[in-house]
Amino acid sequence: MTDALMGVYNRAPLEVARGEGCRLYSTDGRSYLDCVAGIATDGLGHANPALVAALTEQARKIWHVSNIFRIPGQEALAERLTGACFADVAFFGNSGSEAIEGSLKTARRYHYANGQPERIDVIGFAGSFHGRTYAAINASGNASYLEGFGPRLPGYVQLSVDDEAGIAEAIARPTTAALIVEPVQGEGGARALSGEWLRRVRQLCSAHGVLLIYDEVQSGMGRTGKLFAHQWFDGCEPDIMAVAKALGGGFPVGVCLATREAAKGMTVGVHGSTFGGNPLAMAVGIKAFDMINDETLLAHVRAIGERLTAGLQELAERYADIVVDIRGKGLLIGIKLVPNNREMMATAREEGLLVAGGGENCIRLLPPLILSEAEADEALDRLETAFLVARRRLDDAA
Ligand SMILES: Cc1ncc(COP(=O)(O)O)c(C=O)c1O
Repeated sequence: MTDALMGVYNRAPLEVARGEGCRLYSTDGRSYLDCVAGIATDGLGHANPALVAALTEQARKIWHVSNIFRIPGQEALAERLTGACFADVAFFGNSGSEAIEGSLKTARRYHYANGQPERIDVIGFAGSFHGRTYAAINASGNASYLEGFGPRLPGYVQLSVDDEAGIAEAIARPTTAALIVEPVQGEGGARALSGEWLRRVRQLCSAHGVLLIYDEVQSGMGRTGKLFAHQWFDGCEPDIMAVAKALGGGFPVGVCLATREAAKGMTVGVHGSTFGGNPLAMAVGIKAFDMINDETLLAHVRAIGERLTAGLQELAERYADIVVDIRGKGLLIGIKLVPNNREMMATAREEGLLVAGGGENCIRLLPPLILSEAEADEALDRLETAFLVARRRLDDAA
């Protein structure tokens, strides 16, 4: 492999030539069942004909115009998104990190606009991941992301989701601006928060004028079987929400969504992006949104998620020496392991199944939302073969 790339990724020795639906084909002629999907990004599978058509049709018209002009696709996608959730307004960027950055800026500007510029503190949680920009690594709950990048920025508080008293105390502080949380923690290992937890935090935030930010970059756009994961529960809508990944079906786009009130500080000139909301991203985003915000597809995600989870629970019983826990929601599934998760990813890959890693020694299954029943069963079969290999390795080592 070339040394002309910065060495920031731990890349598997797999070179993808092309993809179709839930399959990837490597340059050395192998095929894989893809339960990574660009880490919950290729929600509608690879080379989806409807998305390819939307992209190529737009490419022939116009790729890029500045945000100093009106962009009809942006207006159309903003209308769709705000029509389907709590939000009134949208700001488009190109990634999850930018959606988070926009969300954090929106929260601080809200308090500034209210004449309370001292309210800057953002409460985040252990095990969370919000991206790799400076604001995002400071909000994230893993100190290793900050290592070597200077001190933690002022205004970021880290707590555990289990620390009820600490959360209540932090929300009540007069310098607190916002609380940011993933309704289903992704990189941290597919940990789903309960409706009770989300409602309690919503109530505390409302009582103290603190803005509630959901990071649905990974859990949003149908991944859990609802358009957004928090929509499983009543009474816990946020003020601000970051969405990306599957929003563009694999094309780079992210969005910060907010109520009109929460966004009141985001006035002309305070934020912006050259590429954010460009016509190509909007054309694919509109098509992907219409395909995902569809009750038939969402019901399919719930059914396939249940099928996979039931199969995994059954595997967990038979492989108690390999599997510690099955968790997550819908098609954001974590399998906490006894053997090393990186090794298991490699073993599964050898068996023709691609899975992602996750915190707490998990592997994650994040397949395209269109995974069929037969493909779900195939994933379980291939995973069992990988478990058998791992068991043999454990036995040999003993
Ligand atoms: C929950 C969550 N937030 C934010 C991000 C950052 O998104 P991006 O890598 O597009 O900047 C990710 C990426 O994995 C994520 O899972």
